Amino acid sequence: MDKMWAGRTVGTTADLVDEINSSIAVDRRLYKRDIAGSKAHAMMMAKQGIIPQDEAKLIIDGLDGICKDIESGALAIDPTAEDIHMFVEKILTDRIGDVGKKLHTARSRNDQVALDTKMYCIEEIDSINFLICELMRVLADKAEANIDVIMPGYTHMQHAQPVSFAQHLMAYAMMFERDKSRLDDCKKRMLERSPIGACALAGTTFNIDRVYEANLLGFTGIAMNSMDAVSDRDHMVEFISAMSIIMMHTSRLSEEIIMWATSEFGFIQLPDEYTTGSSIMPQKKNPDVAELCRGKTGRVYGNLMSILTMLKGLPLAYNKDMQEDKEPLFDSVETVKLSIEAFIEMVDVMEINEQNMFDSAKQGYVNATDLADYLVVKGMPFRDAYNVSGRIVSYCLGRGVILEELPLEEYKQFSDLIEEDVHQRLQLRTCVERRNSAGGTSPASVRSQIAYIRNVSGCPTL
Ligand code: ARG
Repeated sequence: MDKMWAGRTVGTTADLVDEINSSIAVDRRLYKRDIAGSKAHAMMMAKQGIIPQDEAKLIIDGLDGICKDIESGALAIDPTAEDIHMFVEKILTDRIGDVGKKLHTARSRNDQVALDTKMYCIEEIDSINFLICELMRVLADKAEANIDVIMPGYTHMQHAQPVSFAQHLMAYAMMFERDKSRLDDCKKRMLERSPIGACALAGTTFNIDRVYEANLLGFTGIAMNSMDAVSDRDHMVEFISAMSIIMMHTSRLSEEIIMWATSEFGFIQLPDEYTTGSSIMPQKKNPDVAELCRGKTGRVYGNLMSILTMLKGLPLAYNKDMQEDKEPLFDSVETVKLSIEAFIEMVDVMEINEQNMFDSAKQGYVNATDLADYLVVKGMPFRDAYNVSGRIVSYCLGRGVILEELPLEEYKQFSDLIEEDVHQRLQLRTCVERRNSAGGTSPASVRSQIAYIRNVSGCPTL
């Protein structure tokens, strides 16, 4: 195929070379950012007297027309073009003639692609953060509606202490809040360093104004070293690792949802629209959305490994290996957005089986710590109280009775400190309500967590 970059070489390449070289199937997603970047570049060049104002206007109008036509479908992106940058420049030149050829003055595809992908990351961080805010909102709503629901809290997957279901949900809201703050940090660093103006690798002989061009595009500053600017993909690594952590969080909640929906647990039910059947077992109702989110986590981790490995050992400055940065980046963004969207709806429609959760919490002596605490309040040192409570638990186990129901006379065999009030104190609801230390599972504490999540900065009022 004939190439715009015919120069030293004749500019025709073998078909297989075209195939391996082409990135348009992937980077076509960048057309809007590419056009926005080129418009800013034309404006900067006009301001600096590198091209005349009227030519800059021709270029800008031409680029606007291309953007509109791609959006409306009037202009199809040519799948045989090398990449989106070459495609836009070629159409511009076809439409406005030789002036179009001036656009690439004081620029290279190396700084151009670094700019376009950075703008993509910045915009996508905003849309992922918007979805995270939504997810925190549904978790807070679900928690608020179930603040009095008691379930067993687990450690080592063994019944540990009674907790409120709302507390369990809010734990996930806190994870997503950290995810949002990680993305905010990552975006801040991206905005501080515009790569455009680094050109191929060494800067340019033209009198460009990099800060002006950066500001036009919303950046607050510029990358300080041209060779670093064109070869830096740290922001993508950071972004994909932040997305991997998001997926890790969704996969943990997925796992819980899958377990809770089993007949063994029976803690929740998903409505039919959120489950699928089996082609052979008519009774099946499978939690596919949660399973898929759990499964897709592996893809995003894979993308992180892929980009890290691609960058490993690359010498300065730009190397064509870097063209391989886009698939893992785009795939991660699309996977994370779809997963969070599905999660928002699934959490919203999840039905809670309050009685089953409570019945389950009654097993496993989850109030044994409360019995020890009770003895401590009556004056026994904690280690001794722990020991007495343990002996009472094994006594109860032998008789198949739960702590709340063991008669007072039998308690008295273990300690004189135990009185009438022990039964009330060991009710699961009392145990939950009394854990009102900051961050604890009491309804008051959970309410303040909900209020905190509803006020996370940068989210629309939740
Ligand atoms: N399609 C290329 C990429 O995605 C654009 C930069 C090409 N630069 C070059 N010198 N061939 O990385």
